Amino acid sequence: MEHLLAAIEGSAFAESLRWSRWTYPFVNALHVVGLAALFGSILPLDLRMLGLFRSVPLAGLTQTLRPVAASGLALAVASGLALFSVRATEYAAMPLFRAKLALVAFGAANALLLTGPRIHAVRPGLLRLAGAASLLTWLAVIVAGRWLGYLD
Ligand code: HEM
Repeated sequence: MEHLLAAIEGSAFAESLRWSRWTYPFVNALHVVGLAALFGSILPLDLRMLGLFRSVPLAGLTQTLRPVAASGLALAVASGLALFSVRATEYAAMPLFRAKLALVAFGAANALLLTGPRIHAVRPGLLRLAGAASLLTWLAVIVAGRWLGYLD
């Protein structure tokens, strides 16, 4: 594992990102765009699952917002891995970074399992629980991501 992390960190890709004046901030901006698309689309969905905006049909809302959330997640993951490559060994050793990855995996699994085409068949209690879990998970991911920048 250490060899792999060192190889990632020493790759030409990571080197170019580390020393470039423009590329790192650009990739960081892509990360923020990705998480904005993800959180911006999942927030109304979570609120609907929690019981707000009951007049809006859940199936239609899910159909519209799911692809936006999935694209945002894909962009956040791709740009996140690029940011990770710059200090792979250091990040991999950080409990906060590991916790962030676990939360991303949990949030993605929760969304995949519960916002599928059969969302209308999910019990209201479970729907509320999934909405609350999703909201708290993505908020925690954002706080963890922002916090990482302040750790040595
Ligand atoms: C596999 C997925 C991901 C990886 C590997 C990853 C990795 C990273 C890395 C390495 C940083 C830079 C931390 C630093 O400044 O030292 C970062 C920043 C950040 N990440 Fe992620 N990330 C991922 C997904 C996400 C997702 C899904 C979200 C939000 C929903 C998120 C939210 C943030 C935030 C808010 C920042 C701080 C950005 C800034 O203020 O410049 N990340 N991420």
